[in-house]
Amino acid sequence: MAEKTGLRHIGIIMDGNGRWAERQGLIRTKGHLEGLKAAKRIVKAAADRGIAYLTLYVFSTENWKRTVSEVNFIMGLVKQYLKAELDFYRENHIRIRHTGDMEGLPPDIVKDLREAMADTGDFEGLQVVLALNYGGRDEIGRALTRLVKAGGEKLAAEKFGAEDLRPFLDNPDIPDPDLIIRTGGEWRISNFLLWEAAYSEFYVSSKLWPDWTPEDLDEAIENFQGRQRRFGGVKA
Ligand code: FPP
Repeated sequence: MAEKTGLRHIGIIMDGNGRWAERQGLIRTKGHLEGLKAAKRIVKAAADRGIAYLTLYVFSTENWKRTVSEVNFIMGLVKQYLKAELDFYRENHIRIRHTGDMEGLPPDIVKDLREAMADTGDFEGLQVVLALNYGGRDEIGRALTRLVKAGGEKLAAEKFGAEDLRPFLDNPDIPDPDLIIRTGGEWRISNFLLWEAAYSEFYVSSKLWPDWTPEDLDEAIENFQGRQRRFGGVKA
């Protein structure tokens, strides 16, 4: 399917966990728990549909502003996801990757993340990129830091082109997202993949993330297939 549709990379802003819980009269953390279940469903569906890369916006650089208990709960879910899903990754040849600032994450999460990345590093199926302690502006800042540290001719010339930052991004080998999905009905990019999303198609679903199913993913893919991508050019 990926070959046919030109859809290699999907990014998802998984929004609406809190509202989902509030609507059921539950505490917000219950929404995140259901959100984790939805993430598992959609990872499986993306793998089954031959998508090559799926970036999930799990925790942003701004999400630290939430209460300590909510932050700890989400981190606990991430730990659970990384550990308990290992057999599932193996069965489905899923490779786990990360984007974001590792330095700001709790050491136990960093350890689990590194282990999951190492254990799944050779798998050639779907690559799931967990955006964890991720911010688009933060990534650009860290890329600039790497570029300056690398030095070289470009830096000496003090002149940069549009593509010069790419090799210093978190995952330069991963193609830019073709499609960015946001659930929960709001039309915002929220600091997600700012550099990479220059020509991504957007799809906003009014459904809250915990309610998302593989059929919703199919609808988003079908909608993408109807788009005409020109990348700033004109229709061929
Ligand atoms: C946004 O909803 C959701 C988050 C900040 C957390 C996302 C985390 C998960 C789905 C669970 C972990 C997933 C994996 C793959 C490890 P919100 O709380 O901002 O919702 P609201 O806008 O309704 O308040």
